[in-house]
Amino acid sequence: MPAIAIIGAQWGDEGKGKVVDLLAEKANMVVRFSGGDNAGHTVVNSQGEFRLHLIPSGICSPHATCIIGNGVVINPAVLIDEVDQLNRRGVDTSRLFISDRAHLIMPYHTLLDGLEERWRGKKALGTTLKGIGPAFADKVARLGIRTGDLLDRELFWERLQLVLAYKNAILTGVYGESPLSADEIYNQYHHYGERLAPCIRETTVMVEEALNREELVLLEGAQGALLDPDFGTYPYTTSSSPLAGGSCLGAGLGPGRISRVVGVFKAYCTRVGSGPMPTELEDETGDLLRERAHEYGTTTGRPRRCGWFDGVAARFSARINGFTGVAITRLDILDVLPHLKICIGYRGDGETINYFPPSVTALARCEPVYEELPGWQTPTSDIRRYEQLPFEARQYLARLEELISCPVNLVSVGAGREQTILKKPIL
Ligand code: GDP
Ligand code: IMO
Ligand code: MG
Repeated sequence: MPAIAIIGAQWGDEGKGKVVDLLAEKANMVVRFSGGDNAGHTVVNSQGEFRLHLIPSGICSPHATCIIGNGVVINPAVLIDEVDQLNRRGVDTSRLFISDRAHLIMPYHTLLDGLEERWRGKKALGTTLKGIGPAFADKVARLGIRTGDLLDRELFWERLQLVLAYKNAILTGVYGESPLSADEIYNQYHHYGERLAPCIRETTVMVEEALNREELVLLEGAQGALLDPDFGTYPYTTSSSPLAGGSCLGAGLGPGRISRVVGVFKAYCTRVGSGPMPTELEDETGDLLRERAHEYGTTTGRPRRCGWFDGVAARFSARINGFTGVAITRLDILDVLPHLKICIGYRGDGETINYFPPSVTALARCEPVYEELPGWQTPTSDIRRYEQLPFEARQYLARLEELISCPVNLVSVGAGREQTILKKPIL
């Protein structure tokens, strides 16, 4: 069996957690490959509702080994808390492993995330303040500390002293903050290390062995394609690649081992944080979507900006990820609307463009060109077969399929695992 990548196709929160939880029923392994606890993946099944930040969304499936890959930055305090919370609710986490190459989020990362945002002032990115950007910056600057380093006390102490001297110079010199204590961080992280040691592994070997045994391996993305540092709305992006390409790097396998790439789209658009979003609705329809869908961030509780489905951005996302199929979630949220709009092009600087501009200033000037479709105004959350969907809902989905240029595999009509319509098998 192959590896299947499950990728956020818009600005995050598309319902990746739901799709992974569903597919994990049949999977042997689920590997989270990017981001950190900026992610919030909601899973709703017979065991309850879970909001996962670091632990893969396959954790409720008893046969799935769950791996936090090398491409994830791990805040150990958050991870330990998440494990404890799951255990208290009766979820077994003994199949959870973390890559020894995954970088750690350190106290100065979270501190600097806030200080850098404050320094940006009106140009703040609206990050989740979880230390993600500073941690990935240190990884690339070769100032990072990895989970594997926790296993060697001397190495960890040496590394911490080196990096902290530099970080303290910035904290005190640039931001006028007090320096952090190496002893305090060491003691705290030594404790985390002892707790996490049993699950720190060379996880790429585990992935390879599973694939060699022909087992189904899911690669779980975080964030969404339009937050990618290369292809998203830079600088209003996150700091690791949420793309299908990122799954190879973040899980440690070659591209040839991935046979399917499933893009997860909401039936409309949302975005948290700053940056352009051409189809944003700052009116009562936007408010209706937000309240009906309870569009508030899973991680930060911030209201999500809501808007119509953006076909231009969707096609771009499909191209840079190479989707072989898509899952459309939250169709049920649109059940009450008499008319729906889909953005099929942009008008910018006097001309019509049908590509996603690389510059945020150009994107901010883009006016969406809409096509209007009739709504269905019928509840869909109890429907389980595609043919039973109202004609207008099928028409809407067919138009999305056409614009994305990729077949729809799944349609989700509710948060629950079972509230899913399988249109075309993924495998
Ligand atoms: P993720 O970050 O991509 O995993 O998505 P989030 O969990 O942050 O946000 C998606 C939200 O939509 C969660 O509250 C899910 O429970 C919910 N959800 C997922 N699919 C559906 C659906 O088809 N209908 C409805 N009403 N809610 C859904
Ligand atoms: P999931 O996996 C939605 C956004 C933040 C901010 C930008 C940078 O649940 O889909 P960061 O903290 O990463 O430096 O913030 O990225 N962002 C997300 N938006 N869903 C997410 O994850 C996100 N993770 C980061 O809101 O705009
Ligand atoms: Mg989320």
